[in-house]
Amino acid sequence: MKILIPGSFDPPTNGHIDVIKRSSSVFDEVIVGVVVNPQKESMFDVSQRENMLIEILKDYKNVEIKSFEGLLVDFAKQMNVSAIVKGLRAMTDFDYEFQMAQMNFNLADFETIFIAASPEYGYVSSSMVKEIFSYGGDVNALVPSIVVERLKDV
Ligand code: PNS
Repeated sequence: MKILIPGSFDPPTNGHIDVIKRSSSVFDEVIVGVVVNPQKESMFDVSQRENMLIEILKDYKNVEIKSFEGLLVDFAKQMNVSAIVKGLRAMTDFDYEFQMAQMNFNLADFETIFIAASPEYGYVSSSMVKEIFSYGGDVNALVPSIVVERLKDV
């Protein structure tokens, strides 16, 4: 089964990587879709986000990194995937993710499969990483080392 894991990945966190790696052992093919969102200001442009993911996941041969713009369901159709996979950290994610899953099913009959985040990453988010880093805090336990290096370059 071929699935799509979409997200902003601005930047990718250990939580994202955990969900992608675990998906790669369950599903035959994993497409990671990095969204280009003109309405949302990002710290890293889409090619920087894509390149970080390519580097981090280079040993996972059934994982492919792509970027997309527009509706997720249109990209999912284009990639010919059977389902969308999302990580859930806590109940706070649930309302929003549930609404998106229902909308994506309503738009194009795409099923969403949820993977529970590992407890050690349940509290990690890209926005918190950016905030902690901006105040000089230590993010080494929250993101892959390549992301720490890229954060220093910004
Ligand atoms: O990592 P994020 O920011 O939670 O990812 C959100 C993402 C990329 C899954 C969502 O913004 C998305 O699907 N964007 C594409 C536009 C779209 O299809 N919007 C309708 C969703 S119901």
